[in-house]
Amino acid sequence: MNRLLSLAIMFLMVSNLMAQEPEAQNRPNRPRARRSMVPTPSYPATADADGNHVNAHGGCIIAYNGEWLWYGEARPRFGFTSEGVSLYTAPIGTQPISASDSLAATPLDLKWKYRGLVLTVVDEAGSPIERGCIIERPKVLYNERTRQFVMLFHSELKGRGYEAAQTGFATSESPYGPFRLHHVQRPNPGRWPADFSDEDIKRAKALNPSDYPEWWTPTWRTAVEQGLLLAKDFESGQMSRDMTVYVDDDGTAWHIYSSEENLTLQAAELTPDYLGYTGRYYRIAPGGQNEAPCLLKHGDTYWLICSGCTGWTPNEARMFSAKSIQGPWTQHPSPMQGPGAKRTFEAQGTWIWTQPSPTADSPTLYFMADVWMPRSLALSRHLCLSITFEGDLPVIRK
Ligand code: DGJ
Repeated sequence: MNRLLSLAIMFLMVSNLMAQEPEAQNRPNRPRARRSMVPTPSYPATADADGNHVNAHGGCIIAYNGEWLWYGEARPRFGFTSEGVSLYTAPIGTQPISASDSLAATPLDLKWKYRGLVLTVVDEAGSPIERGCIIERPKVLYNERTRQFVMLFHSELKGRGYEAAQTGFATSESPYGPFRLHHVQRPNPGRWPADFSDEDIKRAKALNPSDYPEWWTPTWRTAVEQGLLLAKDFESGQMSRDMTVYVDDDGTAWHIYSSEENLTLQAAELTPDYLGYTGRYYRIAPGGQNEAPCLLKHGDTYWLICSGCTGWTPNEARMFSAKSIQGPWTQHPSPMQGPGAKRTFEAQGTWIWTQPSPTADSPTLYFMADVWMPRSLALSRHLCLSITFEGDLPVIRK
């Protein structure tokens, strides 16, 4: 009886493993067979040139020397740790591979070539990127002054869950890597937000977490807005989790990240070499609980598209606009429209992919997003939707 039971368990485990193979059978034109307890993903896989699902999540796509470079989280088949950052490339200007009669090709259906891991976790005990760590949402910038490629990412230490909440900085002479870890840190220790008045600082300094043992009460919320959690991390540096980067028209690079226990976003100015912070930072939507920030500029307006904070589960997107990254930011309804909009089409944003448009003056903008599959993060799907402007407001439909 015991033997039968173990055989049955083994069979279930093996069929579960088989169903999660991201091999050629998962190409967009072949819907996956329903073979096991693993939920059928709501989107087809993104096949690379070898027919494997693209294992690059929470990433970014930048242009370099006639190629698109797609950097993203390389996730293991099982578990929540990281393998590093992977790179896929595709020539700019080529047409998406047509998917099938029933599935329209998206800009993501290019012939992506896997170029390997450009940042890898290491076996050195105590390294911030020791195997078992978490590396999320890598973003890559080219720094013209230093002629270096700089990667920023959300860095969590081995065995410590999401408590470290640091930014990792890595550099490479070449966009194809290898990127070497420069350092990890929390942004702006010992600094108050640039727009905090003396009065704001005095009030924040007086806030004491032990006076607010219960979270989510109206008084706690007011204290958070006034800087309760900001003040808590004043000495050690601000927490930094979900993130994006943006280089402004004047060349200033900004790091925008979920801070203050994911309650408040912050926009921090990077030093000219992109390897640290100048000390100037601003809060966005204090107490608003926003994650997954994606930033674009249209005309003279900056648009920030975010998600709410529900872990790997989809939620309704949020949107803010401002005339300057320093704010003030105004909230708008979600830009998602049509069926599925309330749950961001099951996805969570990661990047605004800017593509030159041969016909229009302004580039075509795409909202890139991850359809997370926490039971196998490596298999998380990708969504790429064009952003249009209707009456000056960004609109995203599926
Ligand atoms: C949502 C974030 O957007 C993801 O990057 C990841 O950190 C998950 N939370 C972890 O639960």
